Amino acid sequence: MTGKQQMKLGAFLMAGGHHIAAWRHPDAHALAGSDIDHYIALAQMAEAAKFDMIFVEDAAAIRERNPDLAGQAARSTSFEPLSLLAALAVNTSHIGLVATASTSYTEPYGLARTFASLDQLSGGRAGWNLVTSASDLEAENFASSGLRPHAQRYERAQEFADAVLALWDSVEDNAYVLDGAAATYADPRKLHPVDHHGRYFTATGVLDSPRSPQGRPVMVQAGASDVGKDLAARTADVVFAAAQTLADSKAYYDDVKSRLAKFGRQPDDLKIMPGVSPIVAGSESEAREMYETLQALIPDAVGVALLASYLSIGDLSGYDLDGPLPDMPQTQAMQSRQQLIIDTGKRENLSIRESARRFAGARGHWQVFGTPVQIADALQERFEAGAADGFNIMPPLFPTGLQDFIRLVLPELRRRGLFRDAYEGRTLRAHLGLKRSI
Ligand SMILES: Cc1cc2nc3c(=O)[nH]c(=O)nc-3n(C[C@H](O)[C@H](O)[C@H](O)COP(=O)(O)O)c2cc1C
Repeated sequence: MTGKQQMKLGAFLMAGGHHIAAWRHPDAHALAGSDIDHYIALAQMAEAAKFDMIFVEDAAAIRERNPDLAGQAARSTSFEPLSLLAALAVNTSHIGLVATASTSYTEPYGLARTFASLDQLSGGRAGWNLVTSASDLEAENFASSGLRPHAQRYERAQEFADAVLALWDSVEDNAYVLDGAAATYADPRKLHPVDHHGRYFTATGVLDSPRSPQGRPVMVQAGASDVGKDLAARTADVVFAAAQTLADSKAYYDDVKSRLAKFGRQPDDLKIMPGVSPIVAGSESEAREMYETLQALIPDAVGVALLASYLSIGDLSGYDLDGPLPDMPQTQAMQSRQQLIIDTGKRENLSIRESARRFAGARGHWQVFGTPVQIADALQERFEAGAADGFNIMPPLFPTGLQDFIRLVLPELRRRGLFRDAYEGRTLRAHLGLKRSI
């Protein structure tokens, strides 16, 4: 079977697990977020299993102001993604390394340089997950004027991405020749100084790094509003998305792929990898029991506060938790996730408490429970329906959730020819079947 018909898989690492109560589970390592050996072991496990990439999220802030709502705060005590991936790069040899970084609180040259550096030191395995950031807590750490409006964040993100791509392209292969005998440091014909003077940034000059071993680091994008989808179609190689149902996932997939043509791109130039949080066990009831054990560890106040923060509604505690979600204006923060929560609540007639408990499991991502065959069936169905090119795997608990997925589900996917047995190349672009840019 060719790579084209096989799934791409990311291992989305998150401290002790993706479930909000993971850190309270008896099998969890509560301080996992600040234990480098924990991350190295997970990265090596994912690499031995031939995952395409490791994926790390980010927010440059604590997640929750109130320490009593500690379920959210637990995720904050993690390493900064680029430093973490630099450490993982030297402890792995093949797996792709994707770090989230925001266009709202950095400058293009600095970010282009850091990712170029990660790409060099990993031998062409770096990827940048471009986000615009949507939290007030982050905005407070950087800008006294607070969170910029959604449209302005995306306008800035587009200009930022254009500048970063131009910087990565400012250096051709073998531009820095370092020929001592000829006293030649660089070949000027292979250097293309950038001359960017935009609304938000100025960047001139060339990147002080050799060209990426994979042409350019892989561009990943996470953001699913209308303008977010356009940004992805214009600039991304991979999109990370959240969708509950097959129908929603398919609609999103078709929508994003159909936008590629207007930017002169082919459907295969962009891989869509929705998140999925699997719980695998010997039987479906055993898997649901494992889930309920985690669910029982969520205090209502923590779940409701997490839901309120994604809805940007401030405080939900004054509402009847057994009633439906109240009407609310469209947020300036994460518009796509607010809509997903509202749609799911209406479709399944969920109370605020039920929405909160559902959302706390995987923050709006798809959750599947069952035997290895049932989970492989579910993934195969979405893959073959044209709703995903692969998945970002979000185990509720680390390391056991990742171990179970690798030990039980991957052999089933391989038996069906849906996942690779060995890496075909050494760079992240090669794993993903993406062209080496320029
Ligand atoms: C699947 C997904 C994952 C995201 N991950 C992050 C993240 O790790 N850090 C972050 O600051 N924003 C993250 N975002 C937020 C986006 O960058 C963006 O700021 C926000 O979603 C608003 O854009 P949207 O309305 O287009 O989704 C994520 C968004 C999606 C859809």
